[in-house]
Amino acid sequence: MKKLWKQILDEIAPYEPGKPIEEVKRELGLDKVIKLASNESPYGPSEKVLEAIMEAAKSANRYPDGGCFYLRKALSKKLSISGEKIVFGNGSDELIILALRAFVHPGEEIIISDPTFLVYKIASRIVGADVVTVPVKDFKYDLEAIAERITPQTKMIFIANPENPTGTYISGDELKRFIEKVPKDVVVFIDEAYYEFAVGGDYPETIDLIEREDKNIIVSRTFSKAYGLAGLRLGYIMARKDLAEAVNKVREPFNINSVAQAAAITALDDTESVNSSIKLTKEEKEKLYKAFDKLDIKYIPSRTNFILIDTKRDSKKVFDYMLRSGIIIREMSAWALEGFVRVNMGLPEENEEFLRVFTEALEKIPIKR
Ligand SMILES: Cc1ncc(COP(=O)(O)O)c(C=O)c1O
Repeated sequence: MKKLWKQILDEIAPYEPGKPIEEVKRELGLDKVIKLASNESPYGPSEKVLEAIMEAAKSANRYPDGGCFYLRKALSKKLSISGEKIVFGNGSDELIILALRAFVHPGEEIIISDPTFLVYKIASRIVGADVVTVPVKDFKYDLEAIAERITPQTKMIFIANPENPTGTYISGDELKRFIEKVPKDVVVFIDEAYYEFAVGGDYPETIDLIEREDKNIIVSRTFSKAYGLAGLRLGYIMARKDLAEAVNKVREPFNINSVAQAAAITALDDTESVNSSIKLTKEEKEKLYKAFDKLDIKYIPSRTNFILIDTKRDSKKVFDYMLRSGIIIREMSAWALEGFVRVNMGLPEENEEFLRVFTEALEKIPIKR
């Protein structure tokens, strides 16, 4: 009998998110669980944002504003770009899916790095694209190799800057040199989910790039990371007006709920709170680097809120040991990173507890290589 669903779905492994806190508590009978597995912010919404959430929740009987009028106005002011160049998504995840839906025909090629954010591959396969993977070089995007892999079939290239799971970033010069090599009929999707942690120094400012008529650049950002609103699901892309319009046509009419819109408008204004969470995250990262140096553990210096660590041990055993002690981290075998784990910055006391248990795990689990 003919399959009801698309053949390709039999070849796709679903995205496996980090284990939820409640599930781990239930399964292991633990009272307290610390989650450092999904690159979330450990800081809950500020008082001001919570007030906006409560107020908006009162009108939950109404459909949201499908055009996100006030949020668009606030963000376009903040970014100094015209509102028609912004498209909002239910998390930047949705914008990856929408961009593929808008631009990619079955059989066209998508180039991604390896390892990279898993959603690029899954979403590309679902639209029937062929996925070409280019290995990272020293845990960094190999932009020269990516440029060499561009063919007449190439339609879109995903660049996460900074990259997940490595945490490394591409400088402004590196990105510009690469963009010059990309033909006019290819879309470059630059995913800046960790922008707020990375900005500064030689990290590129990409807003000017989107204006170029001779290139097709889409830049995505999110409220899930530095803004700490992952549970409300809100991301956005910035792109030239014609590209933004194409993506806008394939989105659901009410893809951004009213609570998320209200929270984000207030969060954009509450710069003190977001700046403080970025500062604390960076301080905590420095503390962990120092501790890893002391333990003689190799890690990849990161421009994000997480660190990729080479345990040199069986990472599944390290993950299990941590989980049983109530700490959820990310084990990296789904990315073919043998022996690696990824951990995001929690609250200072959570990071201390992580370090205590991690040190124990390293002592108990034998080195493999
Ligand atoms: C590189 C990258 N892009 C996109 C996302 C998805 O973020 P959002 O919550 O906006 O869907 C993540 C989340 O971990 C990420 O690491």
